[in-house]
Amino acid sequence: MSSEEILQEIAVEVSTCARCRLCQGRNKAVPGEGSPTAKVMFIGEGPGYHEDMQARPFVGQAGQFLDSLLASINLKRSDVFITNVVKCRPPNNRDPEPDEMAACSDYLDRQIAAINPQVIVTLGRFSMAKFFGSERISAIHGRARKKDGRICIPMFHPAAGLRNPSTKDAIREDFKKIPLIMAEAERMAAERPAKAVVQKKREEEPPPQQLSLF
Ligand code: URA
Ligand code: SF4
Repeated sequence: MSSEEILQEIAVEVSTCARCRLCQGRNKAVPGEGSPTAKVMFIGEGPGYHEDMQARPFVGQAGQFLDSLLASINLKRSDVFITNVVKCRPPNNRDPEPDEMAACSDYLDRQIAAINPQVIVTLGRFSMAKFFGSERISAIHGRARKKDGRICIPMFHPAAGLRNPSTKDAIREDFKKIPLIMAEAERMAAERPAKAVVQKKREEEPPPQQLSLF
């Protein structure tokens, strides 16, 4: 199956999922959307009112800010993949509960496996926790780390930027790092097969002779 087909299959499962209590209050589940071959994936928290109405991620105010952040680095929504740790709206936009995130994580894991993005940007505390554990977002936002052959970078949630001007500035600054991080990830990806070939060659060739000059 192509990654597009896998994502489609996940979206169909999510639309009728009843693995956690969030299915009870949802209008529409929001699986996520974007390119099946995206190099960058953005992972938010969970759908809000507008997302729940439209079955699309980040289409409310926070989404408009995210669109402008993407535009600031010459990316369109269709270049990337955008999703959330829980696919259904928590009542009154409360925080997702640990058991809800656990119930939903299989969908996110399968989306990541299908897209295999070089870069993952976490938006907010909840998706950060999945990749960075219990660190503080104020301490580690904007700091890229290599993880499982990709680069992960935690950022504040765009909604936090709408509430606080200094957070908004921090998000803008952190976004500016994405193109460089993408270039570094591209370099890592290009190096990987080359390394494997070198390794294989070494195995085939007789061991190099010690130079007798020293
Ligand atoms: N906030 C999120 O975390 N995700 C959305 O899709 C919209 C708002
Ligand atoms: Fe299923 Fe996730 Fe929705 Fe819970 S939040 S019902 S696990 S899709």
